[in-house]
Amino acid sequence: MKISFILNGKKKTIDVESGMRVIDLLREHLHLIGAKEGCGSGECGACTILVDGESRLSCLMLAAQIEGKRITTIEGLSKDRRLHPVQEAFVENGAVQCGFCTPGMVMTAVDLLSRNRHPSRDEIREGISGNLCRCTGYQKIVDAIEAAAKDMKEGDAE
Ligand code: FES
Ligand code: FES
Repeated sequence: MKISFILNGKKKTIDVESGMRVIDLLREHLHLIGAKEGCGSGECGACTILVDGESRLSCLMLAAQIEGKRITTIEGLSKDRRLHPVQEAFVENGAVQCGFCTPGMVMTAVDLLSRNRHPSRDEIREGISGNLCRCTGYQKIVDAIEAAAKDMKEGDAE
């Protein structure tokens, strides 16, 4: 089955098996290994990507569902070789330890900040509640997202 979609700003047309999941399409066929597979069942958020600007779990989506959609992965967030403000804030605030959760957490944060430019800490905690981190205790992740919100100018969201 042939599907066409926009991946990180570039049009792709690709043959996929029916039943293939988006996480497998990205990691195994397109060699974009930023999105991680943790649980494979919608529980951990490690596989989060943006579909038409909204965070989605790529382990729960079939490739056929992204026909005609705009897909953004962590690999597509930086612009002109500069990290996205959310990525910078994660680094600067020590919000990355083993890094396994980080791509999904960043994508979720980008979605959150595109809908709410000035979230409270409680709103940030709620926004990332579907993303599990085994290392950081979340405090520094919340700090990072709060700092990114302060740094971001209008139009930086995605
Ligand atoms: S791998 Fe998709 S939610 Fe855990
Ligand atoms: S930094 Fe290790 S799981 Fe979050």
